[in-house]
Amino acid sequence: MVGAAWSQAPGSAGMGARSRLLADTLPELRAGRSSYGHCCSPASGTGAPQGAAMRASGRFGKRIFSVRGKRNRRRWRFLPRSASLGARRSRGSPGAAELELELELELELAPPRGCAAAARPCPVRSGAELNGASGEMVPELEKATVRIKHPEHVMGIIRSIKEQGMSKLQVISDFDMTLSRFGCNGRRCPTSHNILDNSHVVSEDGKKKLKDLLHYYYPIEIDPDRTLEEKRPLMVEWWSRAHDLLSQQKILKGDIAQIVRESDVMLRDGFNELFDQLHEYDVPLFIFSAGVGDILEEIIRQANVFHPNVNVVSNYMDFDDNGVLKCFKGPLIHTYNKNNTVLQGTEYFQQLSTRTSIILLGDSMGDLTMADGVPSVENILKVGFLNDKVEEQRGKYLDAYDIVLESDETLDVVNGILRYILIET
Ligand code: C5P
Ligand code: MG
Repeated sequence: MVGAAWSQAPGSAGMGARSRLLADTLPELRAGRSSYGHCCSPASGTGAPQGAAMRASGRFGKRIFSVRGKRNRRRWRFLPRSASLGARRSRGSPGAAELELELELELELAPPRGCAAAARPCPVRSGAELNGASGEMVPELEKATVRIKHPEHVMGIIRSIKEQGMSKLQVISDFDMTLSRFGCNGRRCPTSHNILDNSHVVSEDGKKKLKDLLHYYYPIEIDPDRTLEEKRPLMVEWWSRAHDLLSQQKILKGDIAQIVRESDVMLRDGFNELFDQLHEYDVPLFIFSAGVGDILEEIIRQANVFHPNVNVVSNYMDFDDNGVLKCFKGPLIHTYNKNNTVLQGTEYFQQLSTRTSIILLGDSMGDLTMADGVPSVENILKVGFLNDKVEEQRGKYLDAYDIVLESDETLDVVNGILRYILIET
């Protein structure tokens, strides 16, 4: 019924595997849902790493799950990062009854249980140390980037969100450095503001002034030793001065698409699955951003994921009749006022009052209040990306976020949780 062979593909951090499956029925493929299972050993595979064996199970279509393996006699987890499926009629198969499917899996080799713990002395349990049940539920929680202070509590929330069902669920997410990447190959990726700051439409003098503001205020924004009360007026100062400078640059509305196209912005790995999965299951995604709304909308539009279930509240530009930027529309949203004070007048939360299960995604301590406007929250799971000054900020993040993802440029964990919640098992 199903045959398989696999070979290792070159990969740097992780491991690639190519899996060839032979399936024999067209209706299963058409339905896009059929389950499959296969097991292969070094003897049957070509180029498989020595001492390795892999087992995969999952569904055709977008979803791949539960890939496990053995390497050098130790159990490793092969965490799925992406998958694509191709189909063609087998050679020598005249009818449509026999198809050859090619499944390409990109896998990350996660350490066996206990390894990450030994490598990192920390009182808080890493994902790899979670009990087996959580690993079974959401294998991605065992990634070495995962830190959780109260694992049982987290698993309880996830279970409860699943029980409530997808009709009760909404996702509230920050944009810059949460849905977009913080860095790539050792270089910082731009925020939506930086995309404008660095663009060809801003003068050299303007660029220098905007950079000076960034260098002065960004360390304040992430300073773990300052209170939010101290930071708030300084953030208003930063945003206001930056918006004034940008408004002097005669930026054209018609140039936004090109500015974004020419930028180095990147969405986190796995963004397609996140946006597409939420769209497929009609789960609203509310993006609450202190960045520039026109820019971030263009980013997700160019990535082909600006689906109808996505709503954005952010700082929008105000253009004159000739399409020239004259100022930014109010109210000003900065890192530390992302709460219902700036949401008054937006109908969004009223419409979603029945969506009482929330997954909140953020990267700053200011993102924690993004769901404050939702009238009756029953379950909330807060996932925080800890991108910068990891050691210094770890304690605060672990106290505030249910799940902390340290220097993790992917949406793997979020996608894994959603897969568990949304897909019936
Ligand atoms: O989408 P999010 O709320 O994360 O957007 C805010 C981010 O934009 C902040 O983390 C801040 O560092 C950054 N920012 C910037 N330039 C400015 C103002 C804010 O890069 N002028
Ligand atoms: Mg952010």
